[in-house]
Amino acid sequence: MRRILVTAALPYANGPIHIGHLVEYLQTDIWVRFQKLRGNDCRYFCADDTHGTAIMISAKKAGVSEEEFIAGVNAEHQRDFADFHIEFDNYGSTHSDENRELCGEIWKSIRAAGLVKEDEIEQLFDPEAGTFLADRFVRGTCPKCGAPDQPGDNCSKCGTTYTPAELVDSRSTLSGATPEVRKAQHEFIELEQLHGFLDEWTQTSGALQPEVTNYLRGHFLGEPENPEPLRDWDISRPAPYFGFEIPDSPSNYWYVWFDAPIGYMASTKQWCDRNGESFDDWWKSDGCEIHHFIGKDITYFHTLFWPGMLKTAGFSLPTKVHIHGFLTVDGEKMSKSKGTFVAARTYLKHLDPSYLRYFYASKLSSKVDDIDLSIDEFIAKVNTDLVGKVVNLASRAAKFVQQTGLSKKYPDDGGLFQAAATAGDEIAQAYEECEYSKAMRLIMQLADQANPYVEDAKPWELRKDESQADRLQDVCTVALNLFRQLAVYLAPVLPKLAEQAGELLNDPITSWNQSQTPLVGTPVNKFKHMLQRVEEKKVHAMIEESKESVADAGAPDDDVASPEAADKWDDPGTELESEPLAEECTFDDFMRVDLRVARVVEAEQVPEARKLLKLKLSLGGGVYKQVFAGIKAAYEPEQLIGRMVVCVANLAPRKMKFGVSEGMVVASGPGGEEVFVLSPDEGAKVGQRVH
Ligand code: 2FM
Ligand code: ZN
Repeated sequence: MRRILVTAALPYANGPIHIGHLVEYLQTDIWVRFQKLRGNDCRYFCADDTHGTAIMISAKKAGVSEEEFIAGVNAEHQRDFADFHIEFDNYGSTHSDENRELCGEIWKSIRAAGLVKEDEIEQLFDPEAGTFLADRFVRGTCPKCGAPDQPGDNCSKCGTTYTPAELVDSRSTLSGATPEVRKAQHEFIELEQLHGFLDEWTQTSGALQPEVTNYLRGHFLGEPENPEPLRDWDISRPAPYFGFEIPDSPSNYWYVWFDAPIGYMASTKQWCDRNGESFDDWWKSDGCEIHHFIGKDITYFHTLFWPGMLKTAGFSLPTKVHIHGFLTVDGEKMSKSKGTFVAARTYLKHLDPSYLRYFYASKLSSKVDDIDLSIDEFIAKVNTDLVGKVVNLASRAAKFVQQTGLSKKYPDDGGLFQAAATAGDEIAQAYEECEYSKAMRLIMQLADQANPYVEDAKPWELRKDESQADRLQDVCTVALNLFRQLAVYLAPVLPKLAEQAGELLNDPITSWNQSQTPLVGTPVNKFKHMLQRVEEKKVHAMIEESKESVADAGAPDDDVASPEAADKWDDPGTELESEPLAEECTFDDFMRVDLRVARVVEAEQVPEARKLLKLKLSLGGGVYKQVFAGIKAAYEPEQLIGRMVVCVANLAPRKMKFGVSEGMVVASGPGGEEVFVLSPDEGAKVGQRVH
């Protein structure tokens, strides 16, 4: 029996759980349920991530204390998780006594190891909101790769972490104001001192997926012969801040990302105290595996900072950090305006949680790739696989053996049960390796072998002939056993179905081993409805309702500007004055200009030209345009390569001194250094028309 501690990333206590979050909590729940079913001593710990300016501001807006605010969100989160059949062994909060204590202990070790230094730094302050700005409240252009509209702590395009003051063109998302730089004393952890350890651990421990290992080396650690120094980690924030005050640095608070992962431990501690377990057996013992499940956006924190903290403070290192990609819906980023940003609660009002559990399982692998929820595929998969192949097996057989129960001896089924029992090892291995899509495929293959058995044996015909009563009982015994086997294999994904199967056959499903021996001689209960087909209209109703709830949700990452922000932005009219609106044009006039999304695939200086860069734009499918753009003073060629832009694609070619220009890149600004190239939002595809 293995001892296994499992965590999923702690959700911010600043908004509801949505279907994007659920990819991770379900992936993790499935893994934990699998381990428990196999008989391992596996525990799933989580908590709300409650600290930081964002939550402080949300509480203020709601007119309650931070404590009241996070308590409300915690209750909501726990209810959402429970209703999706996500079962934690403990669900805590980072704002707990246990967490404060553990933070103090770990902080002491880090100081004792000589990793802490103090420095006065410049931090962004929102003069309108009267507060220092949390990283998430500043957006601007990434200083490393030039990606526009990035958050204040790390770039979603290239993964670099930075301080918000380093962003180019920053603005406060609270008020829209341009932040001011103010000085404050901060505490830093010199991560570079741990470079050797981190290099070794990330590259050779086997804890990370190969693509992650490469990413860390390429982006942060550098090659062993040519290491890149790791930047100091700014882990304090000056008051006002909602968090824990640093005991030996008064009026400074630990940055939320310092105390958040320690929340994994605090949640474990609460469970240990409640269950008479020793905390050290879970966090300081070679006999315990530690598995973290996270999304790719927080890789840096979990694969560099966190192991660095654990190592320094003498705790076990993660056995594995399982990193997954993001969720897209119908191939696009979830969008509030399109109604695909679906809150867990909204989903539950319309659809059964088992559908999503199964659908995600059928898409998930051990890779970091994004997964797509195609609505049509979702409906088809659930209806064909779960209802058509699995539940049907039980519903077609159960009613004929309600009086008699299962046969006393397992009948000859042509080797079906045994073959499916043998497949158990491969299915288990797929679960273990987080290759759920493979596991689901293998299970559905078994269902495909079971169903023809029932179709050929035709129990509904047998029941008409009394002399066939024994045969009828045998056929149904086989069908129900094959169904039960599927229910055991699917139990990590579909705990509710496993429970229903257990009730039907008077034998609760509690162990993987139940897939290996047929059940005989037990009474069969009345068949109760197990799972309905997905109705397309319900899916659409859910999407419609999600469109409506945009305004109510008001999540900080809302892709629609809120009305109060619009008031505050109060942009002056100087630009309009210097360039008044052009003469009215018709829609047809506008449509004559063919604007397309393009990607800059090459960008180079034209040494002889004062203002020009030479760009090669891809429109997809091998179609390219060469464009000379007057943006030399504003952009370095490297900033542009890979970036999506908007180009005028049907502009008559123009012969210039340096070559032919076959289009134009759309930009605003008067010229010189003040040129701002336009880019589409994430999700746009190269070649798409802009209108
Ligand atoms: O990115 C997030 O949503 C964070 N709240 C995750 C924290 S995970 C852990 F470190 F606590
Ligand atoms: Zn970047």
